[in-house]
Amino acid sequence: MSVTDQLTEYVSALFAPEDAVLEGIRTRQDQLGLPAINISADEGKLLAVLLRAIGARTVLEIGALAGYSGVWLARALPPDGMLTTIEKDPRHAALARQAFAEARLEKRTRVVEGAALDVLPTLKPGFDAVFVDADKAPLAQYFEWSMRLLRVGGLLLLDNAFRHGGVVDQSDRTPDTEGIRAFNRLAARDPRLAATIVPVRDGLLVAVKERA
Ligand code: DHB
Ligand code: MG
Repeated sequence: MSVTDQLTEYVSALFAPEDAVLEGIRTRQDQLGLPAINISADEGKLLAVLLRAIGARTVLEIGALAGYSGVWLARALPPDGMLTTIEKDPRHAALARQAFAEARLEKRTRVVEGAALDVLPTLKPGFDAVFVDADKAPLAQYFEWSMRLLRVGGLLLLDNAFRHGGVVDQSDRTPDTEGIRAFNRLAARDPRLAATIVPVRDGLLVAVKERA
């Protein structure tokens, strides 16, 4: 194992140990043959720390998969908080609901089934944070919607900002990688944002919306 991998394990074991609920979500994903593309525990803990730092009460997630990241996000909220998570695959939405029930987070979570570009226009602005972790090609559109829905002082968060190295591979012109590049560029250049990428797992873009 590389030193980097050992250090990731060290951080995860010390700061982000998984409980039975989180382990169970990953096990179920495996058993159902879903790809293991959930966030990592150390990334989940980083998201939680960021949410706690701003006292987040409402979070929007785009892309629930089986609810692994949703459990990390919702657990970082106060009892009267609310995670809204958008999921287009009904089987994944059902798994996410099951995960939230097992984590006793039903009251703090809401799974909205549908394509993100259909659901986003129906949501009320004012979210304390938006975590984007869905299909990659439409990311420029997800950026615009996220900015519209975020309150001033809120956090914009993007998973897979490195696209497994694809963003620096000039021969990679796939729509997914171009989508990530577009989001990263938009975040870097937007005068409303202070933004950077934290090199955790596959890159977590972290930005704060400083003005409307
Ligand atoms: C993929 C998507 C993700 O959101 C992720 O975290 C890892 C991989 C993928 O589509 O390959
Ligand atoms: Mg991801």
